[in-house]
Amino acid sequence: MSNKDIAELGKKNYMQNYSQFPIAIKSGKGIVLTDEDGNEYLDFVAGIAVNALGYGDEEEKKALLSVIESGVLHTSNLYYNSHAVHAAAMLNSLAGSEKVFFCNSGAEANEAALKMARKYGTAKNKSVIISFHHSFHGRTYGAVTVTGQDKYHKGFSPMLPDVVYGEFNNLDSVKALVNEHTAAIIVEPLQGEGGIIPATKEFLTGLRKIADDYDLLLIFDEVQCGLGRTGKPFCFQHYGIKPDILTLAKAIGGGLPMGAAVAFEKAKGIFSPGDHAATFGGNVASAALAEVVLSRLPALSAQVAENGEYLGRKLDELVSKYPSLCSGSRGMGFMRGIELKISPRDVIAECMENGLLVCSAGYTVLRFIPPLIATKEDIDKAAAIVDESLKEFV
Ligand SMILES: Cc1ncc(COP(=O)(O)O)c(C=O)c1O
Repeated sequence: MSNKDIAELGKKNYMQNYSQFPIAIKSGKGIVLTDEDGNEYLDFVAGIAVNALGYGDEEEKKALLSVIESGVLHTSNLYYNSHAVHAAAMLNSLAGSEKVFFCNSGAEANEAALKMARKYGTAKNKSVIISFHHSFHGRTYGAVTVTGQDKYHKGFSPMLPDVVYGEFNNLDSVKALVNEHTAAIIVEPLQGEGGIIPATKEFLTGLRKIADDYDLLLIFDEVQCGLGRTGKPFCFQHYGIKPDILTLAKAIGGGLPMGAAVAFEKAKGIFSPGDHAATFGGNVASAALAEVVLSRLPALSAQVAENGEYLGRKLDELVSKYPSLCSGSRGMGFMRGIELKISPRDVIAECMENGLLVCSAGYTVLRFIPPLIATKEDIDKAAAIVDESLKEFV
């Protein structure tokens, strides 16, 4: 079937909750994707920050084949499985954390964190959760409530009670909200969907101090910015502090659905048997791929640190070259964006036409989140396509 036929079938049968481009991805190799019509694209979207190892990775293939050969794709959490246990141990070792709860998505990881916060607060008469404007934490009710953007709430009220919103990178706004009833603060160290906005060191270290002073839980949502994307295994490691709970998803399952809520010392004993669960959490196949991703994380992070600087320089060059279209570039590692003065969607369509997949963040940002294996040569090619595409709008 052609791109067009597949898109039509999708439009007819899917709920219309996405606004999809009319191409269907058929295969991939390295960081190049091929659609059903045979067109090739350099992929700077990575399945929205998921496909860290790109496409056709031999180690991932071997791991998945061995799970298939074992005959057991899923065990339930009535029993242990070796892959999930090892993935949890690797996570704790990389993050300096204590305990892991596996689930299937970012929203679910945040739901687990919010439930831990409420349970932690119950005994201390604390229930309020502070989140931030422009944040994004997922689409389930708890996660969408702490998402500080009205557009995601519109039409779905009432939201979860006892959630309040501060200004990102503004400690005074948090000091004005926090009190003895605050159970947790949830924050993305590098806001993604809100427009690629890194937290300042002063802000995150200030949140850590507030969390300690008020005996509340500090939750870092690294669903998008974690797992090597910023040039360290976890984004918080740039800031010299630790959260009490870290939430992860996207890249962790190597392309299969997986999420994790990771507890540090203060949060390690909150859940007791029966408090929380996910049928597929720690699924054998996802966990086998997580082992591959996590084992490669230290080396990949170092590579991203170097190549991410390079990507940043290339984006700055584009911003300087097209001052009538771009107002700046920002981000960390392989999570970067150009602030545009025109609609990102038009630029994305033009880039796609020219063989590059990029996506937007918020209403104004062109987002670059390639697989972590992308090289300087890939970055040069992508920058040349963005250059060629922006020319069309001058
Ligand atoms: C920071 C952050 N948290 C949570 C989510 C939700 O993840 P999921 O779509 O896997 O539920 C996302 C998704 O983009 C995200 O960027």
